[in-house]
Amino acid sequence: NIKGALFDLDGVIVDTAKYHYLAWKRLAGELGFEFTEEHNERLKGVSRMRSLEILLEVGGISCTPEEKLAMAEKKNNWYVEYIKKMDESEILKGAREYLLKLKGEGVKIALGSASKNAPMILENLGITNLFDAVIDGNKVSKAKPDPEVFLLGAKELGLKAADCIVYEDAEAGIEAARRAGMGTVGIGSRDILKEADMVVSGLYELL
Ligand code: G6P
Ligand code: MG
Repeated sequence: NIKGALFDLDGVIVDTAKYHYLAWKRLAGELGFEFTEEHNERLKGVSRMRSLEILLEVGGISCTPEEKLAMAEKKNNWYVEYIKKMDESEILKGAREYLLKLKGEGVKIALGSASKNAPMILENLGITNLFDAVIDGNKVSKAKPDPEVFLLGAKELGLKAADCIVYEDAEAGIEAARRAGMGTVGIGSRDILKEADMVVSGLYELL
């Protein structure tokens, strides 16, 4: 019997992947190489620093830790410019309705995201108040597939891991949830989310 639902943000509730991509592409452009949408797939669910490392790998560029920090900050400033302009219209189909449905059934709701920008995104989408707990990139030290983010979410909801279910679009996120001992709903395609208990195209399918 499910008592808690933990949601990833990017790709589950909102499509921020396109803004991450625009910002990473711009950085690659400045560094003098092309960064494609296919390359960008590898960054989903991955932390900011790890994303930068993958991008630099693609470009065949090596740099110092200081340079990396500066690049990550630059990318984030661009990204924040994009998401500042987001509004309620960018919430993915069925997401708000599904959160409300669960709330109506007495299920506790938490966010479990690697993004340090998650609080601003929830604000802009007008859904902060639908969450009983928000675990974001500022609260965790170990990135998915480490289960930390979801274990902390269950803890803040006051629930046992086994009573929680996780909604994720990234392979690393499904693995994190499984390692936490939680049920999993994959958002996307079965080809990628091989280990999920079930897979749907979007939360609208669960209404
Ligand atoms: C999510 C996204 C990743 C992003 C990460 C960190 O997991 O799927 O693409 O790199 O969050 O986001 P941030 O906003 O902190 O850079
Ligand atoms: Mg995601």
